[in-house]
Amino acid sequence: MKTPRTIVVGITGGIAAYKAVNIVRAFVLNGDSVHVIATAAALRFIGKPTLEAISRNPVHTDLYEGVAEVRHVAIGQGADLIVVAPATANSIAKLAVGLADDLLGNTILASRAPLVIAPAMHTEMWTNPATVANVAVLRSRGVTIVGPGVGRLTGTDSGTGRMEEPETIVAVALAVLDRTSPAGEAAASVLHDLTGRRVLISAGGTREPLDPVRFLGNRSSGRQGVALAQAALARGAVVTLVAANLEVPVPTSITTVMVTSALEMQEAMTTAASAADVIIMAAAVADYRPTAVQHGKIKKEEAGDTLTLELVKNPDILAGLSATSRPGQVIIGFAAETEADADRLLNLGREKISRKGCDFLVVNRVGYVDGETVGFGTERNTVTVLDRHGVIVNEAAGSKMSVANCILDLIG
Ligand code: C5P
Repeated sequence: MKTPRTIVVGITGGIAAYKAVNIVRAFVLNGDSVHVIATAAALRFIGKPTLEAISRNPVHTDLYEGVAEVRHVAIGQGADLIVVAPATANSIAKLAVGLADDLLGNTILASRAPLVIAPAMHTEMWTNPATVANVAVLRSRGVTIVGPGVGRLTGTDSGTGRMEEPETIVAVALAVLDRTSPAGEAAASVLHDLTGRRVLISAGGTREPLDPVRFLGNRSSGRQGVALAQAALARGAVVTLVAANLEVPVPTSITTVMVTSALEMQEAMTTAASAADVIIMAAAVADYRPTAVQHGKIKKEEAGDTLTLELVKNPDILAGLSATSRPGQVIIGFAAETEADADRLLNLGREKISRKGCDFLVVNRVGYVDGETVGFGTERNTVTVLDRHGVIVNEAAGSKMSVANCILDLIG
């Protein structure tokens, strides 16, 4: 069981403040202790009760509250990481000169924890020489700047300045927290340990058509595969995602090829494989598909009380990619199993990796455990990673984003 870390999430007054709830929630789900400091302006965009309920802690705003406990320095001294999201042009300017006219400014000045900020503003403000200079100052002090992204801004305009997607901010923040000392320089280099690596990832669950309206599918939401794509992107990789029927959104900055069935996924993966340095098959691919797809809807009046479907085996995409991999290419597969016994689960993984021929296999338990769904469709995951000799090389439990970072550590 990991020890919870203390993350301070500073929210400043921009419209993107409403998205900070998802950031807070992701840290809480990751098992970390979250303390929100909202500026007065932030509270004009988002309610304190929401932040208190999601963070499971009181939200602090006022410099003159909690004076007896010296709160203006205590929160910063106890922080393992500070994330400011959204960071407005005004708050960036204040940080650059070290202003401490509110609780957030005091907390940041009083802290030695790494600082991650996610700017959000209109393009004109982001490109203004004042902001450019302030951001450069913060970078030179080792502050990690995430984004901003390009896309729709508040109002009708679009361009650079949109706050980076919450999942990406969380990925970067956890990467800083998991693998760095408070030194910003170190943070910057470790964060970009996949710079230029071309990573191809499959995600989601395939659907095998039966007739024009029905399919055989599975419960995969695509969360783990999308988390891998976001984490790889945050670490500097060039990411291509082959996505089958996802239940979660994909940041626009990730090149995505949409597929439905196993055969479509095979084609997309095979086409993209030759250009990839790393391939991760996180998708749940149907082992079988209907032998024939009916042109019209299957009618119960014609089928009667029982209906027999004939299925044919799908190609094993992972085994195929492993068999044709080029030297230096790293291939990672997943083994989602319902086996409850830990040793038997690992042995299933060991048999699987020798069958598939990949370099690493991520073994995770899926299904219902003590009345709860685990693995598929959930926010958290618990995995053990085996190498091709069946030796355990990594273990992780937590949010799918932190599990993603542990998997990427193998190739970083
Ligand atoms: O054989 P099994 O489905 O348990 O193996 C899981 C791993 O193999 C996953 O990485 C999955 O993406 C991949 N797979 C595949 N093609 C299939 C079935 C599974 O690439 N037809």
